[in-house]
Amino acid sequence: MTRKKEQGIARHFAARARGLEASTIREICRLAGIPGLVSLAGGWPNPDAFPFDFTAEAIGRLMAERRGEALQYGMSEGLAALREWLAGWLGQKEGIATTPDGLVVVAGAQMGMELTCRTFVEKGDVCLVDLPTYFGGVGSLQFYGAELVGVPTDGEGTDVDAMAAILARLARRRRRVKLAYVQSIHHNPLGVNLSPARRRALMALAGKYDFLVMEDCPYRDLCYAGEPELPLKSMDGAGRVVYVKSFAKIFSPGIRMAAVVADPEAAGKMVVARQFVDCCPSNLSQFLLLEFCRSGAMERHIDEMRRFYARRRDRMLAALDAHFPPEVRWTRPTGGFFVFAHLPGGMDAAALFQEAMAEKVAFVPGRQFYIDGSGASTLRLSFAQAPEDKIDGAVEVLGRLIRKRMGSKRGS
Ligand SMILES: Cc1ncc(COP(=O)(O)O)c(C=O)c1O
Repeated sequence: MTRKKEQGIARHFAARARGLEASTIREICRLAGIPGLVSLAGGWPNPDAFPFDFTAEAIGRLMAERRGEALQYGMSEGLAALREWLAGWLGQKEGIATTPDGLVVVAGAQMGMELTCRTFVEKGDVCLVDLPTYFGGVGSLQFYGAELVGVPTDGEGTDVDAMAAILARLARRRRRVKLAYVQSIHHNPLGVNLSPARRRALMALAGKYDFLVMEDCPYRDLCYAGEPELPLKSMDGAGRVVYVKSFAKIFSPGIRMAAVVADPEAAGKMVVARQFVDCCPSNLSQFLLLEFCRSGAMERHIDEMRRFYARRRDRMLAALDAHFPPEVRWTRPTGGFFVFAHLPGGMDAAALFQEAMAEKVAFVPGRQFYIDGSGASTLRLSFAQAPEDKIDGAVEVLGRLIRKRMGSKRGS
């Protein structure tokens, strides 16, 4: 079949740009601005949770003390002092053994995943992703032409037995897996953690089949029940895990700060690769983050954020228990921002979305998170952004609409 003749500027697009499509989720999240709408859609942090006073004061001081240094270009790998501090902190808090030469400061986790894929992924490489998973990691893999294979999940995240079966099947066909995109802690969209047994099994599979793990971990610190699990990177003696640690949720997305921890040789490649992307991370953001970390403000802020989001999580879970019919299954997150729900009887979450929007409630139909087009009866509910006192009412609306659909289905 010949491709329809493209008009205008599109006829000049590179093949890789032609395939790019705006994420439906981003479009849905944009709806959060509609007056009167209660959004359980957005994965963005709550702006009430940003450290405004710290930031205002620190910027003033930086301008006075650092002068041009804060507004100048910097080193592509990031500020030495920040990399040193983060290497120590990740060692202490997350059990990650790294030196600063294995750590690159990047402009957000998304850039960390872009650089990982830019460095490792070639067209046709087989890469494993969860069904469902975060579209940002998927997008980076797809941009570099990865052939994606979906791995089923359950209430504990990635189904590692299913992953083992997929790997064995691919090996029989002489297909090598290059990389698995994994979220082991407070998964987006599932809101679950990989159990210790599964972590060990997954790392054993990575060793056996010699694939890389791109571990995306923006929600670890937002834990509402004790201390969170350690990341897979803490178990990585072979340098096969590329760990992407975002500061978007514990400082702010606007400062665009994340760290990539990798084998030093790989980190060095990423540093060169990034010179043709953004040259270097923002010095201003890095000085702010360094100050946030070193002053102890970050640890205090994390404690506060845990309480802030835990209250919202509790409200949402109580509302779900009160208003959702028992036929709906949903996850009970111990951290992060999301609850993931399965509707009964093949109910269409996209149709439910239209009805909910008519009543000014938004959520994300879960299909968006499945690379294979499945998940039509699932939905992601975020408790991060909605005002605390609006969560119950929004869930009540959804519960009523679901019951109505169940009733009309039974009646038909
Ligand atoms: C799982 C996951 N990974 C990565 C990101 C992007 O993080 P950053 O803002 O640091 O690029 C998000 C943002 O919502 C996310 O949920």
